[in-house]
Amino acid sequence: MSKKTVFITGGAGFIGLHVIPLLLEKDYRIRIFDNMSRGDRGRVNELVATGNVELVEQDVRYGGAVHNAMKGCSHVIHFATVSINKSQADPYESIDINMVGNNNVFAAAADHGVERLVFASSASVYGDPKKLPMHEDDELNPLTPYCISKRAGEDLLGFYQRSKGLSWMALRFFNVYGPGQKIEAYYTSVINTFIQRLRSGQPPIIDGKGEQSMDFIHVTDLAKGVVAALESEQDNMPVNIGTGVDTSIAQLTKILIQAVGTDVEPIFNPRDVLVSRRAADITRAREVLGWEPQITVEQGMNELVKNQAR
Ligand SMILES: NC(=O)c1ccc[n+]([C@@H]2O[C@H](COP(=O)([O-])OP(=O)(O)OC[C@H]3O[C@@H](n4cnc5c(N)ncnc54)[C@H](O)[C@@H]3O)[C@@H](O)[C@H]2O)c1
Repeated sequence: MSKKTVFITGGAGFIGLHVIPLLLEKDYRIRIFDNMSRGDRGRVNELVATGNVELVEQDVRYGGAVHNAMKGCSHVIHFATVSINKSQADPYESIDINMVGNNNVFAAAADHGVERLVFASSASVYGDPKKLPMHEDDELNPLTPYCISKRAGEDLLGFYQRSKGLSWMALRFFNVYGPGQKIEAYYTSVINTFIQRLRSGQPPIIDGKGEQSMDFIHVTDLAKGVVAALESEQDNMPVNIGTGVDTSIAQLTKILIQAVGTDVEPIFNPRDVLVSRRAADITRAREVLGWEPQITVEQGMNELVKNQAR
């Protein structure tokens, strides 16, 4: 019997390149659909050389191209997107890629009758949470074109489910970090900035008291969640993918100082900061996906610091 093929938009990006090796281990074939605006061509070439990965260099904004390229695929993962900061600077491009692109991918998947589509949604659909941990049934309040497109994407999946029987999962990723991430990544850029300062003997500068927190999820754990969602028995729902632990900027700084092995003290820049906090309720991920994160923030940050030193 021929192998099943996973169509993965944005597969040449940070998270895609962590998911693909797991899928290859499970004997899937891979078709990356990526316009390579941010993709890692060197790494994609290595994967293509395995014989089980192909690259379609195209744009999700072109519905016909998406539809044609998806022929013969059994599963879809939709990652292609422009980021939250770019979406604020250029809402037109963001709506084009994130909204029209979503529809092109979902409509094609419904037409081709794929077995499952996994969509990368985001914790940012919640806006500033009223309580922690954040549960999938909490009120949503997306604030930027990027976040709005993620929420609309989830709703659109419901439409294709009802009208054409599409089977889907929307994963609300929290603050993803790990090897291969570009240093300007929006929420997690603080990690790289602090590591760079610590390495050059400079203290990290924290605005306010550093109370703002994030739920840092390591990309290796997250990639396993994506594969679990592609194969889960239950479907058609959003699922949080985080650790459930909120790490404040002050705590993160301590962890990084230890990991780098210096004795500098952070500088606190006294100013009013809007303190936002994040932590995922991951009960649903445990129950529905049988998924559990394995890597603590301390372990993940230590590994990141070691890798960057090589
Ligand atoms: N990294 C995070 O912290 C995080 C958090 C929440 C959600 N997400 C979501 O996870 C998904 C993957 O994120 P990532 O961190 O790997 O991003 P990334 O920017 O590293 O990868 C995105 C990929 O999409 C491609 N792409 C961009 N525009 C395209 C277009 N018009 N047509 C085809 N391909 C296009 C890029 O070339 C790139 O390879 C995204 O949907 C993102 O919104 C990421």
